[in-house]
Amino acid sequence: MKTSFLKTKPTTAKSDLITIFSVEGRKNVEGALRRAGFSDKFIGEIAKQMIAENFTAKASTSIELFAAGQISSKNILIAGLGKKDEIKKLSMLNLGGSIAYSAKNVGARSVAVVIDKEVSEFAKEITEGIILGNYRFLKYKTCEDDDDDKTFLKDITYIMDSVNMNALKGRIEEGKVFAKATCDARDLVNTPGSDATPSDIASEARRVAKAAKLAISVWGKNEIKKNRMGCILAVAKGSAEPPRFIRLDYKSKKKNAKHVFLVGKGVSFDAGGISLKPPRGMYAMKSDMGGAAAVLYAMEAIGRLKPNVNITALIPSVENMPDGKALKPGDIIKARNGKTIEIFSTDAEGRLILADALSFASEKKPDAIVELSTLTGGAAYCCGELYSLVMGTNDKLVSKLKDASKTCGEYMWELPIVEEYRKGYTSSTADLNNQGKSKAQTILGAIFVREFVDDKIPFAHLDIAASGWADDGGLLGPKGATGVMVRTLVEFAMNY
Ligand code: BES
Ligand code: ZN
Ligand code: ZN
Repeated sequence: MKTSFLKTKPTTAKSDLITIFSVEGRKNVEGALRRAGFSDKFIGEIAKQMIAENFTAKASTSIELFAAGQISSKNILIAGLGKKDEIKKLSMLNLGGSIAYSAKNVGARSVAVVIDKEVSEFAKEITEGIILGNYRFLKYKTCEDDDDDKTFLKDITYIMDSVNMNALKGRIEEGKVFAKATCDARDLVNTPGSDATPSDIASEARRVAKAAKLAISVWGKNEIKKNRMGCILAVAKGSAEPPRFIRLDYKSKKKNAKHVFLVGKGVSFDAGGISLKPPRGMYAMKSDMGGAAAVLYAMEAIGRLKPNVNITALIPSVENMPDGKALKPGDIIKARNGKTIEIFSTDAEGRLILADALSFASEKKPDAIVELSTLTGGAAYCCGELYSLVMGTNDKLVSKLKDASKTCGEYMWELPIVEEYRKGYTSSTADLNNQGKSKAQTILGAIFVREFVDDKIPFAHLDIAASGWADDGGLLGPKGATGVMVRTLVEFAMNY
């Protein structure tokens, strides 16, 4: 997205769609239009349309108007802020999404956004909302004229008359970095499993590392074996695609900076293995690397924004397939930390590859470990499709994650780690089984992965199985990959 800044009267700015924000009340809208340079006659006409459509600039509402040559822009969007003292980040993000929606509606390629003092502190959210709402996955579309799938918007011009431009430019740049990283994550998650194999994910990680100036190392099957990562090897056995263990490092300039590990589940396609999944919905299992994508593209943004904390990202990546050589129910495998695991279901593969990655992270004794994964189908039954579920061993760490998610307008809810359910993981022949026993699948997931982290290291597990994939489109993105938690992780790193 191209962005530029203009100090001019809004009515003289040329664009396909100009957005003017206003606090609630028709008189306030009229005032905002007058300040923007609209003529009394035109304001009178707009007032009639506002009445006809019952528009009063309530929070997150907007009205789209044809400018009919009255100003230099072709169309007008009046975006409602609600009550002056109650303007919220989330509704500003959604208004950004409305701008993208409206731009699509009127076929706009360029939008102008009037930033006056009421909205100046939300320039980042507006920018993010526009870019996220404008996202489309077009890599595989050949019919250019398919209206529904066109990305219309190319250009945002911010019109600022009185407010401090330089501070705003910084916030807008930040918003662009946050949103681009999210869109990049969506692209990777939306890419079909056969075009985003563990090796492809590793190549993409190399590209990201180069672009964001991060150190990277990628292990193949032999190094994974040498490093005693028996679970990653076991899950990869049934696939023609070799596994990868990807590590990225961001080093801050700050002396004695804290060190945080981010770990993301990177199952490029989850057929379930020998415990084969039912065909319905299996195609969505190309999204089983949503945790890996969140971590990878958060690192991209972190490399650009340079927070004062050292971050290491680990991505264990495999494809989970049924095959003559595949892992079987009843098999016993050994994780890097020495614990043995009896396989009850080969479809509970995420926790297995995470076991090795978390053992590795734990050995390095970092200040915190945050792990993200599309771990359990049950996550959708906890708080529905909008929420990411967090479970942790340290309240401070969980609070930091919840605060960051709130700031970014990403929904997060904490679930308890119920100790009583741990006994469901006993096995008569190994240290643990990989399935557990309780209806609380999502909590069971946290209990399993926690086994591979030293109790003294603050640890949080985020299950994004429900929030990582949208069955329906919304203001902030279409159906498909959501890129959830990229922005939260970047915000978390910036504040750590
Ligand atoms: N990748 C799935 C979880 C999933 C399901 C993600 C639906 C996104 C949408 C995971 O590997 C899995 O299959 N989990 C099992 C665990 C069970 C066998 C213990 C599940 O949730 O049923
Ligand atoms: Zn599975
Ligand atoms: Zn899976």
